[in-house]
Amino acid sequence: MPAALGSMNGWVDVGRGLVSREIFVTDEVYRMEMERIFDRTWVFLAHETEIPTAGDYVSRTLGSAPVIVVRDADGMLHGLLNSCRHRGAKICRADSGNARNFVCPYHGWTYEMSGRLVTTTFDKHFPKDFDFSLHGLARVPRLETHKGLIFGSWNADVVPLEDYLGDIAWYIDPFLARTQQGMEVLAPPHRWRAKSNWKVGALNFVGDSQHILTTHVGPLTLDPVRAARAGFATAAENSFQVVTDQGHGCTLTYLAPGLPEDAYQTHPRDLEPLYAKLLSADQFQLLKRLRVIVGTIFPNLSFIETQVGPAQKAVIVRQWQPVSGTEMEVFSWVVAEKEASTDYKSQVLRKGFHNFGAAGVFEQDDMELWASATYASNNPVAKQLPYSFHTALPYINAPEKDHKWPGRAFKPADTEVAQLEFMRQWDRCMKAGV
Ligand code: FES
Ligand SMILES: [Fe+2]
Repeated sequence: MPAALGSMNGWVDVGRGLVSREIFVTDEVYRMEMERIFDRTWVFLAHETEIPTAGDYVSRTLGSAPVIVVRDADGMLHGLLNSCRHRGAKICRADSGNARNFVCPYHGWTYEMSGRLVTTTFDKHFPKDFDFSLHGLARVPRLETHKGLIFGSWNADVVPLEDYLGDIAWYIDPFLARTQQGMEVLAPPHRWRAKSNWKVGALNFVGDSQHILTTHVGPLTLDPVRAARAGFATAAENSFQVVTDQGHGCTLTYLAPGLPEDAYQTHPRDLEPLYAKLLSADQFQLLKRLRVIVGTIFPNLSFIETQVGPAQKAVIVRQWQPVSGTEMEVFSWVVAEKEASTDYKSQVLRKGFHNFGAAGVFEQDDMELWASATYASNNPVAKQLPYSFHTALPYINAPEKDHKWPGRAFKPADTEVAQLEFMRQWDRCMKAGV
């Protein structure tokens, strides 16, 4: 057994497939994660279509800091620390909206969309040499986008976003950027608190095929749309996990051969030709017969595309925002192709949230178990016992030799390779700060 916490070297033991349980329940580790991961790397903030016009903004969190993501009159995106330069009050209180200026509710300091200080309302009392230009809202030093996804970093020296995403971009583009006009967020995100560590969600989405037929046995049994389940259980051999640099990964589950032809029509018939126009032939091939993909962009952005009806797929973007060692805030967006019909979008939105919203049937299954795991792990006896990732071990050093697409692929899809690789990256980041 590796040393229980106290020793960073004992947290992640890839060679033995063991991960300390204490890192899932400890506030001290949460604080270290803020410094060593969330303040250093790229973190997802918003989708561009949430703030399409001048003055649109959303309130989000970058690391442990509240930020405003806003589009100015020239269409430029800005990330601003949501804390007044006067006495620190949180300036923007709404989740989203449209504004010409941000006015602090405490004493009235007023800022432009770019964060520049316009007036304090008591300008006449300030010393003559007071420099307004030095008292604007702190800016997120790096803000970059990838196909509509806005990421920010507090680290001015972080690598370019495209380098950070690397090979995983090849896998996320067929879901989040597959038509000329791109994807759009269909509604504000569902948000809820879960009494679970954020890594539980990130791990679940990077590749936890083992939970599906037990955790979700209820909806899978009851919902006739998922009759393709007959093929789902046998689809493992067609399916695989992908791991790329930086701890990103995804799991792709394909329909098994021998199903009725209609079962293979998983994407909308009128949209599929648009995919072929934009994606490479291989990326288009990736979509064929794909039943579900789940993935995580390290550290806390995930996505899932899953069938919600005949020729209907919901794409869910998901963020696991750490709140403490034992709590997170979950954000869940439903996105669809801009080119899709209004009727299709409304159906996908409804069914997407029905499955993966705050009260979603799949969500409820997962949340209860994640909270119970956090609760039951947060005691002195349990914390001595590391979590098991043993099913990664026979496979983790044997990627598919003939995988022709980016990244390293692993079969079968129902092992814990992608999860253990995620933890390996987490461990690297945490140790790099020592
Ligand atoms: S704290 Fe914002 S104006 Fe005083
Ligand atoms: Fe689940």
